[in-house]
Amino acid sequence: MSSRTPYKVLCVCLGNICRSPTAEVVLRHYCDARKLNIVVDSAGTSNYHPGKAPDLRSQQHALKRGYDLSSLRARQLTIQDFLEHDLILAMDLENLSNIQDLQAKAEAQFGALRARIALMSEHDQDYPQQALPDPYYGGAEGFERVLDQCESSSKAWVEIFQQHQSSQV
Ligand code: 4NP
Repeated sequence: MSSRTPYKVLCVCLGNICRSPTAEVVLRHYCDARKLNIVVDSAGTSNYHPGKAPDLRSQQHALKRGYDLSSLRARQLTIQDFLEHDLILAMDLENLSNIQDLQAKAEAQFGALRARIALMSEHDQDYPQQALPDPYYGGAEGFERVLDQCESSSKAWVEIFQQHQSSQV
């Protein structure tokens, strides 16, 4: 991570309307609070909701904690994303597997890729290596759980990012 070129992180779930937009805004909040030179975006492995705003339930639960998701719009993950991002964060294991399938296609087309892939919960001691459960077909507690876990995992990631950025200045 150089102190000039931003480190680019892409949060990825299935629909890009519940978990990954929440992760995007929460992770950006913690990166900005530490003044880290990091850009955060999100995408979905599916093409279920292209161009749509985040699910209203995600928006409402997030807003109660001060996170505004309203300007985000869903898009599908592309092979180009593996060239444009440094880190792709999968919300659950199915996402991880689908991202890895696309990574193989990107590698076949482009050769060496910029992005590495990890789970959102990779460094999270409170949710160790745990999937971020899909809240789409459930109730309010699922959306709160997404926020709890995104906050917890984002705090763990900013510790990692900070260590890298301070060792490279
Ligand atoms: P997300 O949630 O992957 O967290 O955005 C979902 C959104 C939509 C659907 C499934 C999960 N769907 O089946 O349309």
